[in-house]
Amino acid sequence: MIYLLLLLIFVCAIWRFTTWNRRGIRQYNFWTIWWKNFNDVIRQLSYCERSISLCRDFPNERYVGTYQSGIPTLCVKDPKLIQKILTKDFDHFRNRYPRLPDDGDPVLRKSLFLLNGTPWKTLRKVASPIFTLKKLKIMYAAMMECSINHCKILEHQVAPDAVLEMKSILAHLATDIFCLTHFSIYVNSLSDPNNKLYNMIKSIFDLDIRFYLRVGLIKIFPPIARFLGLRVFNQEMILYFQKLVDENRKARVENNLERPDIIDLLYIQNKDNENLTVEDTTATIVSFFAAGFDTVSSLMGFITFELAKNPQKQQKLQTEIDETFKACNGNVPYETMLKLKFLDCVISETLRLWSATAFMERECVKPYTIPAEVQGEKPIHLKVGDVVAIPTFGLHRDPKFYEEPDSFKPERFLTCDEFFMPFGNGPRQCIGNRYSMVVTKVAMFNLFLKFNILPSEKTAKEIRVLRTNLQVVSKDGYWLKLQRRG
Ligand code: HEM
Repeated sequence: MIYLLLLLIFVCAIWRFTTWNRRGIRQYNFWTIWWKNFNDVIRQLSYCERSISLCRDFPNERYVGTYQSGIPTLCVKDPKLIQKILTKDFDHFRNRYPRLPDDGDPVLRKSLFLLNGTPWKTLRKVASPIFTLKKLKIMYAAMMECSINHCKILEHQVAPDAVLEMKSILAHLATDIFCLTHFSIYVNSLSDPNNKLYNMIKSIFDLDIRFYLRVGLIKIFPPIARFLGLRVFNQEMILYFQKLVDENRKARVENNLERPDIIDLLYIQNKDNENLTVEDTTATIVSFFAAGFDTVSSLMGFITFELAKNPQKQQKLQTEIDETFKACNGNVPYETMLKLKFLDCVISETLRLWSATAFMERECVKPYTIPAEVQGEKPIHLKVGDVVAIPTFGLHRDPKFYEEPDSFKPERFLTCDEFFMPFGNGPRQCIGNRYSMVVTKVAMFNLFLKFNILPSEKTAKEIRVLRTNLQVVSKDGYWLKLQRRG
């Protein structure tokens, strides 16, 4: 009996893991998949390394059949086809593949990241105008204020040449900027690490083993999870944000207050939109924090790491910063900040090397045919429910597009027009891309104006990415020496 069961499991596995072969698409063969998976577990390979090896093992294929967490997933590598899927043929790929299960929480359900169909379209239309360059200008003074104060605290409270974990230092700055630009609340989290709001934001990213167990249980046994009242996210955090949004909104309506922040743009300026409930607003704000807070802190951490390892590039950036600061008499206008060319190149090159996710995913919602283009290809018919993945991390490091792809060379972005999609593309691209760029520019401008950042004995030789996370996060942090300038 047991042999029969094992045989049945084996046959099912062969059937599943040859899905793409049967559909005429190249894939690793059945045994290689198992060997690779085994090897990946033993060598603790991250999603980033898998993304890179997919691009390098199949250099000439436009797409490859893969199995992500056992789910047949078409990995598309051809920039033109990717562009088509994300933009022109978006109607066929409107949904992101749902990695988080529906736990019944109305706030999670309404998150922009997870919403699909018409509700997503409606909310996206309401939220997109917040992040135009014109609207971001309203928040520029707040970003500058937080960033300058943050540097002052570091100058006064931290010993000269202190070795610090830069991501956590920069996460304090991101907290202050996010809270001031979203709620007009100044947290000053570096001086007050016990601040409740700071700790609530941090709790969004408590992705420990209990989080994965909860997600697994909700996915596999929804009735049991429902009976136990399990939720993906910490409910204390959700209720806290709901109360914060509600009180913040009421105070403004009652006192007729206008504030240069996201709540104002989202709620008050949409007050005629009766469909926008407190729940919608909370869900949108929580999704901004969930999708944006850690990605921005990580980006800033990666920049400090790369510039510490590449002192000549750091010096070049500081020359640009010093000259701009002097030319503006210490008061850098928004428009000037946006135009800083080398700072722009440094951010883009860091985003290329350390894109936030190893893969972007879409679910096919309308049958779609990929026509054959090169000799040997057959048309591919995708069905509703098929999953498509774009190996952003691997493509950003593909030698076909970038010479010396693993080296940090910001200057390549002075002329580069290769595949570059750190924020995705099309109608579902990152809504916070411009916001992230402005925040990062302001933060890095002030940091490198005041400090040199150097490697220390504690600095990792190279970054090891956290294995379990689809998001690209350094396992060892970024331990660097902060040296005051002049
Ligand atoms: C360096 C910073 C950031 C990076 C690299 C980044 C990257 C991304 C990527 C790759 C996606 C998926 C795009 C796609 O599927 O085509 C995404 C989606 C999203 N991001 Fe960001 N992001 C960043 C910061 C932010 C910030 C600051 C916010 C909010 C203020 C934000 C809000 C969102 C939301 C809401 C979505 C889902 C959009 C939708 O489905 O309509 N992100 N981001």
